[in-house]
Amino acid sequence: MTEQRGNWTSSAGFVLAATGSAIGLGNLWKFPFITWENNGGAFVLVYLVWLAAVGLPIMMAELLIGRKTQKSAVGALKEAVGPAWGLVGLWGVLCGFTLLSYYTVIAGWSLFFFFKTAGWMVGGFPAGTSLGQVFTEQSANGGLQLGLSLSFSIATVSVVYFGVQKGIEKIARLFLPVLFAILLLLFITSFAMEGSGQALAFIFRPSFGELDGGSILEALGHSFFTLSLGMGAMITYGSYISREQSVVKASAIIVLLDTVIALVATVIMFTVIFTAGMQDQVSETGTVGMLFISLPQLFFSEGVVPGGRFLAPLFYVLVALAALTSTVSLLEVVASFVIDELGVARHKATVMCGGVVFLFTIMAALSFGGASFATNLTAGGPIGSLFFAGKTSWFGMADHFVSNWMLPTGGLAITIAAGWFMTREASEGELTGHAEPGWFKYDIWRLFIRFVAPAAISAIVIAVVFFGVDFS
Ligand code: TRP
Repeated sequence: MTEQRGNWTSSAGFVLAATGSAIGLGNLWKFPFITWENNGGAFVLVYLVWLAAVGLPIMMAELLIGRKTQKSAVGALKEAVGPAWGLVGLWGVLCGFTLLSYYTVIAGWSLFFFFKTAGWMVGGFPAGTSLGQVFTEQSANGGLQLGLSLSFSIATVSVVYFGVQKGIEKIARLFLPVLFAILLLLFITSFAMEGSGQALAFIFRPSFGELDGGSILEALGHSFFTLSLGMGAMITYGSYISREQSVVKASAIIVLLDTVIALVATVIMFTVIFTAGMQDQVSETGTVGMLFISLPQLFFSEGVVPGGRFLAPLFYVLVALAALTSTVSLLEVVASFVIDELGVARHKATVMCGGVVFLFTIMAALSFGGASFATNLTAGGPIGSLFFAGKTSWFGMADHFVSNWMLPTGGLAITIAAGWFMTREASEGELTGHAEPGWFKYDIWRLFIRFVAPAAISAIVIAVVFFGVDFS
């Protein structure tokens, strides 16, 4: 019944896989837009502070819990902290399940825009095309949406099916360098464009007058999402690390790469937008608009992006690859629970979990006008507004619930588990082993995990519950 548990083949393989989980739609789709909405500068600075003060210590906590126990989320928390903590693991599995079910839909859009832009690259961009309309038509086409998300789900299942080494690590090794190369090419191109100075100033010049409590907490919420924290994904990935690898160094590299990629992606997008003077349209079309309406339009406008029509399909390949290395980590959380705790073999568990998640993806895929039962749900009343902030589509409700409720509460529980319920010996043993760097100070980590991180996360939860702040 028990198959041998997987292991990463090397430290680099693990770091790439975990970085692949972290870098995803959060970096390319969410971060640029919330930076836009919050006026850049000061918001970005606050976000960087959260990453260092809360994200990094929790990254280390999740990885060490996984490595110590060599078990996936539920089993790891039970063993490292106590039997009741298995519930926190289960909460994480449920969160992974929910997040995967709707994340797949946006990932599917990247496939659509890849094919669309590849077609325009070859056949020319039809004059008078309205990209806003292209976007709305594709997202409201239920059949198309089901096809796209089914394709993406199959891709995700196929990777996880082959396990940790032959599936997850292999595609991370293959795809991450490609992703970095494409991004670098776009980054260099963006410097040749007029708007780059304006973009850099917007992102990096802080003006604190524009920062309010909501933005500060939104930055914190996003730091969880982008680092794949708060639901045991990193516990699970950590469970495949060997004792010869350093948790401290790996955590630092993952956080650094994720941050650099988010900033680079944001510089590219803003440069393009400032160069074309499209600020107003971006503000109108919202989060999805930036990635799927403004950018394709700019790639095909005369004289905005040098070589734009060739870069466009490449850009959507990048989005799809980034999304895939994240969806596999989400499915791995769910599948490894079924494998480790219920004793089901990997192949069977993966297909089964992928199938059940897809049932919910159907609802998410039809949330953009494809079917009215998924688009116009009513989440009214005090419960509806507390848990779903009055969102009316299945997608909107799921996204709101995951970002505002599941990740912060899961993250808080994991932080408390690692800081207050695990013994000092247990965490110190993991973080000061012979593979760990000499400069690392365990006591500083302990201070952050016991006091700074829980206080900050509690602030999010309080803001949501008592002040109705919306972080999604
Ligand atoms: N980090 C990914 C992104 O930024 C999303 C993601 C993947 C995730 N796995 C996760 C978020 C686990 C939270 C938890 O797109």
